[in-house]
Amino acid sequence: MYRFLYRHLLSRPDAELIHDLTLGGLRRVGGITPARALLEKVFSPNTEGLAVSALGLQFAHPLGLAAGFDKNATCIPAMNALGFSFVEVGTVTPQPQPGNPRPRLFRLTADEAFINRMGFPGAGQEAVRHNLRALRKRCPVGISLGKNKATPLADAPQDYCAVLHCLYPYGDFFVVNVSSPNTPGLRELQTREHLDTILTSLKASMHDLANGSQAKPLLVKISPDMTWAEIDTVLELALRYQISGVVATNTTTDHAALQNQYAGEVGGLSGRPLRERSNEIIRYIYRQTGGELCIIGVGGIFSGDDIWDKLRSGATLVQAYTGLIYGGPAFVKKALARLRQRMREEGIDSLSALRPSP
Ligand SMILES: Cc1cc2nc3c(=O)[nH]c(=O)nc-3n(C[C@H](O)[C@H](O)[C@H](O)COP(=O)(O)O)c2cc1C
Repeated sequence: MYRFLYRHLLSRPDAELIHDLTLGGLRRVGGITPARALLEKVFSPNTEGLAVSALGLQFAHPLGLAAGFDKNATCIPAMNALGFSFVEVGTVTPQPQPGNPRPRLFRLTADEAFINRMGFPGAGQEAVRHNLRALRKRCPVGISLGKNKATPLADAPQDYCAVLHCLYPYGDFFVVNVSSPNTPGLRELQTREHLDTILTSLKASMHDLANGSQAKPLLVKISPDMTWAEIDTVLELALRYQISGVVATNTTTDHAALQNQYAGEVGGLSGRPLRERSNEIIRYIYRQTGGELCIIGVGGIFSGDDIWDKLRSGATLVQAYTGLIYGGPAFVKKALARLRQRMREEGIDSLSALRPSP
């Protein structure tokens, strides 16, 4: 059914218009209890044997929704009803901003991929706070911290800290996004000089906000386009500042493998072509840190086997965005059914058995 709809309707331009309509529908459905219950009845996955304990939190299973889909925290209940065990909202900026001019989202159907140059369009931190305050939370929520386009790089720490202060009570964990390719200069913030300052400021803010209790987890989301030496710098800082983990990875600007008519579009590539690079980076981080950091693996998850590969590479949790769009509402249910089947085939009864030895 979804495949038919996708082929005949959803895959038509404009990709972003369809996305906006879907989000609007999900927001409404999530707000109506019987409709949400129906979604849950049809799409909720069997999660037996898949529970994960990570970041001091409990997850029904390892698969969450990646950042960028629910930018303004309007459809967490619906995404939870579709089976995701956690949702990362945002990226949230202090001030509302329109993002880049349209078109800025391109569907590459044959490659099972997207190129996007959204540029953090969003309603800003106050609107997100309003939405999160009204939420009856049933799964862990992560908040992706961003900076406004107009904010100079030198002032980025203030932006990240402003969003953290505004939304701290409503998030279970926070991710500093220094890796989107669509905000000019943002990825420079992954370099030692900038990241050091950002993490110093965020850790100090975290400490103040925790007010004597345990601070909430902070993670850093990295780009797949970094060299190993650049990744080493991020890891060194992450360990030094006792960051909880790394989200690997954001989209790539490397479009070399694509044949598609949109291959030349500027922006970040997500989906199938990103999968192996993301796995390679996860393996590297796990090896370099001896499993000390919690890795959230993201990039090209379309099936239970893709989740398996990321967990085998060293991820504790995983996320997907593009796979959901191509797979439709039964995406999580099908992926987890395959993951459970794979565990049975391989004679593994706990996901922790998948972790490689450091
Ligand atoms: C349209 C679109 C918008 C995105 N926006 C964000 C964002 O705001 N913040 C962020 O950290 N990642 C963002 N991402 C990246 C995803 O969170 C994810 O890292 C990437 O798409 C790889 O996962 P996937 O292959 O499952 O899509 C976006 C991705 C897409 C396709």
